[in-house]
Amino acid sequence: MEFKRSWAEPYKMKMVELLKMSTKTQRVKAIRKAGYNTFLLRSEDVYIDLLTDSGTSAMSDRQWAGMMTGDEAYAGSRNYYHLEAAVREFYGYKYLIPTHQGRGAENILSKILIKPGDVIPGNMYFTTTRLHQELAGGMFADVIIDEAHDPLNEHPFKGNVDLNKLDNLVKKHGAGKIPYVSIATNVNMAGGQPISMQNLRELRAYTQKHGIRIIHDMTRVAENAYFIQQREEGFQKKSIREIVKEICSYTDGATMSAKKDALVNIGGFMATNEWEVFEEARNLVVVFEGLHTYGGLAGRDMEAMAIGIAESLDDNHQHARVGQVEYLGQQMESFGIPIVKPIGGHGIFVDAKAFLPHLSQDEFPAQTLAAEIYIDSGVRTMERGIVSAGRDAQGRNYYPKLELVRFTIPRRVYTQAHMDVIAESAAAVFEKRKKIKGLKMVYEPRYLRFFQARFEKLR
Ligand code: F0G
Repeated sequence: MEFKRSWAEPYKMKMVELLKMSTKTQRVKAIRKAGYNTFLLRSEDVYIDLLTDSGTSAMSDRQWAGMMTGDEAYAGSRNYYHLEAAVREFYGYKYLIPTHQGRGAENILSKILIKPGDVIPGNMYFTTTRLHQELAGGMFADVIIDEAHDPLNEHPFKGNVDLNKLDNLVKKHGAGKIPYVSIATNVNMAGGQPISMQNLRELRAYTQKHGIRIIHDMTRVAENAYFIQQREEGFQKKSIREIVKEICSYTDGATMSAKKDALVNIGGFMATNEWEVFEEARNLVVVFEGLHTYGGLAGRDMEAMAIGIAESLDDNHQHARVGQVEYLGQQMESFGIPIVKPIGGHGIFVDAKAFLPHLSQDEFPAQTLAAEIYIDSGVRTMERGIVSAGRDAQGRNYYPKLELVRFTIPRRVYTQAHMDVIAESAAAVFEKRKKIKGLKMVYEPRYLRFFQARFEKLR
């Protein structure tokens, strides 16, 4: 007889953090006070925190031990050299610039590579990445395949670039106006969807022909590698470590928010294979972050990152990480909740347009749904729809096709029982969906409005 063989976490718990439970009355008050924006809730008022997988992972005993070996010298910290060695060994990039987090690297890279009037094609935008491209005078152009904008399409590699779209841009603007193609591995805004190795190889051949760089947003590269291993022909026997190295080999440089895959609470870096870009970055980093051997981080943070990078590439770790996300997705599907398919790497993305079809996009369906889930159970999720998309340079709202609520799973933090509670809460809100009213925005910040915007309930 064939028995089912389950996966389980390749770690056990040594310390726990106690959670605070709240009543519905307390939560209604808290979300109103937060202007119906989950970013403005106090963490103390949250039971299960799925706002983000960024900086929220649990570090291992080895990482904590590494923290104690922090060399807090202003210049030339030992931990910097350890991190540099890890980036070279596991990712293969030659030169490293540490930064306090991903957007610090995006700022520096955009300032170096982008000239006013440039166009930066990418496989879907990310909020901070696009903003830094725009602040440097560039314009982002989406070249992801159409399937990525359809929450129901089950394409296994929704992060792929449509080479025809890219070629049209090159023909229209000329390769000279395109400093690089911006490639994210495991595309966040598409629902944690991977790009295939095949697509990367084709993209590499195309960009090489036209003398265009590929810059890699490698924030979730290990999760992308896991999907390649599971789904792409010829990779079943390759390790995540090998796959990650191959992905990086098709790119010229990278920005990294180490707060995700790399299992640290703070940190990031820029990496490049070009000496001239490195020199320029080393110059700029002292203006915006700190000396080039710490870039806004303590020595202990760089040590935890170096160790976290190695841990993130362990096959069993990724299997359990993505396995937990898949488990939550399957629970939600069993309740009939509309989610982005295939299930992504870092969270479940609920399709708020399908969940609340009676709300127009101007009534902020995803923002509304995130608030309702919080009121139901104290589970904190995040809007990834029209609020996150913001406005264009002319001040017009972007109307993204995807109007999603992200249930983001921190790494190594919650248990399968937590996943059950989360899915049941989503189901409870789904039951009463027809009675849910939308929101109106009453305060809108100029940049990255989703972080601080405030709303009121429509009557
Ligand atoms: N690129 C991607 C794909 C990201 O998801 C993020 C952050 C960044 C860059 C910026 O990195 O936060 O370290 O400055 N994403 C977080 C999230 C905030 O919740 O998805 P950062």
